Amino acid sequence: MQQIGNIKEIQAFALESRRSGKTIALVPTMGYLHDGHLELMKRAREKADLVIVSIFINPIQFGPNEDLDCYPQDLDGDLAKCRNVGVDIVFTPTREMLYPDSFQSSVEVKEITKGLCGAGRPGHFQGVTTVVSKLFNLTLPNIAFFGEKDFQQLAVIRQMVDDLNFPIEIVGVQIVRESDGLAMSSRNAYLPDRERKEAANIFQALIHAKALHKQGLKESKALCQTVSEQLDKKMESPFQVEYIKIYNASNLTEINGPITTPAVLLIAVKLGGTRLIDNLKL
Ligand code: PAJ
Repeated sequence: MQQIGNIKEIQAFALESRRSGKTIALVPTMGYLHDGHLELMKRAREKADLVIVSIFINPIQFGPNEDLDCYPQDLDGDLAKCRNVGVDIVFTPTREMLYPDSFQSSVEVKEITKGLCGAGRPGHFQGVTTVVSKLFNLTLPNIAFFGEKDFQQLAVIRQMVDDLNFPIEIVGVQIVRESDGLAMSSRNAYLPDRERKEAANIFQALIHAKALHKQGLKESKALCQTVSEQLDKKMESPFQVEYIKIYNASNLTEINGPITTPAVLLIAVKLGGTRLIDNLKL
């Protein structure tokens, strides 16, 4: 495994690899890798000759009051994990390399970024689509892997790839969870013991709603209400719900009335100071 920190070097490597007929899979990450990230890498390993993992804490996708300055990092641990799952290249650019002082462009997906996380994090998805476009141009992947944990992000990337005709296949990978059901996330490291235990209630509340849906409760509002009630009942630590919503899983539009199409229940909760997101297909 090789670590490349330089943008000219990674692009030259990618160009040469593609010219010689090799296929490339990209797994973009912000590091502090956990089994969710590793699942994307394992899937990538099965699909291409070369697997490139990028580790870059992308400043332009963080809002002014967010956790950019304390986002967890462990490069040595990350490199060991990548090596273990057979990654070929870990790309670790610096902020100055990706965003020199002269930088002034951005990529924006307009509609499906407005709701859910986009509503609470203005500019976030523009930061994501801009950096992912840059990573695509630098690593020239045939295929790229994203987690369903960030359901809206995955939909936004698919939309961008479609709209801008990137010749790249996008693969979505199921959420990897802790044994108590909490969706794995680098941000789980922020949770003190007590909140960490209570965080499992988020998934339990989604499961509860899914069961009610299966039993015939089809009204979107009523289902979201049950999630909210479950959290109120089970949580002892202070928490704030940012959103609990049901969306059409294929076009990411909100469902307000009865659910008649494949749908996904999405939630964002702030538990103490930690923002957690999760979702479950109904
Ligand atoms: P990051 O949060 O590090 O996540 C990197 C990738 O891992 C994303 O595609 C995310 O959906 C996936 N992932 C995270 N937790 C997961 C889990 N529990 N199960 C399955 N997949 C999981 O998402 C980002 O970084 C950034 O926005 C990025 C795309 C790298 C752009 O900066």
